[in-house]
Amino acid sequence: MITTIRKRREEPPADVIDLLFACHERIRRLSRLAQRLTGAHGSPLGEVQEAAGSLLRYFRHALPLHVADEDLTIRPRLHEIELDAEVRDALERMSSEHVSIDGLLASLMPCWERLASDGSLLGEMPQGWVEDSRMLREQLDSHLAMEEETIFPALRRYLSADSEWVIWREIRERRSKSSNEVQLADEPGT
Ligand SMILES: [Fe+2]
Ligand SMILES: [Fe+2]
Repeated sequence: MITTIRKRREEPPADVIDLLFACHERIRRLSRLAQRLTGAHGSPLGEVQEAAGSLLRYFRHALPLHVADEDLTIRPRLHEIELDAEVRDALERMSSEHVSIDGLLASLMPCWERLASDGSLLGEMPQGWVEDSRMLREQLDSHLAMEEETIFPALRRYLSADSEWVIWREIRERRSKSSNEVQLADEPGT
């Protein structure tokens, strides 16, 4: 049986860092679901479709917002301060990993699209989709750990009440401008 992702009642985030950690937890849950789906042969077709639909919504609509938060809001803010070399390198690595994760998603997205409308196609996925799903989970695990160990602590040092408010506002505005699909894909924050 595939355990699909159910919306949980979550405590509202206490601050921006808390919000980012909450996003990471959702990313981890979804990337594990992506890998479980590749081995879900024999599961009820409705479960396959539901899992694929969740993956499609999250990775198509919600993850890009988190990536934009990091590349367009957090990275420029951190460049405003004196950064040590480790954090500067981590910021570069962060943005380049976003691109490679996007490449994996580009090949997985059509598979989830097909499965979301017909769960019986699980046995007909293209060669490489199992490997791509495994790589997605592995790359995301290492990417999230790097951000949590190096970038978030730097952000914590940078945050003043004013800067936190600006970051918070940008993150919220980004979501309010996006489609309702984001609300379906995730809540709160993304
Ligand atoms: Fe990231
Ligand atoms: Fe992140």
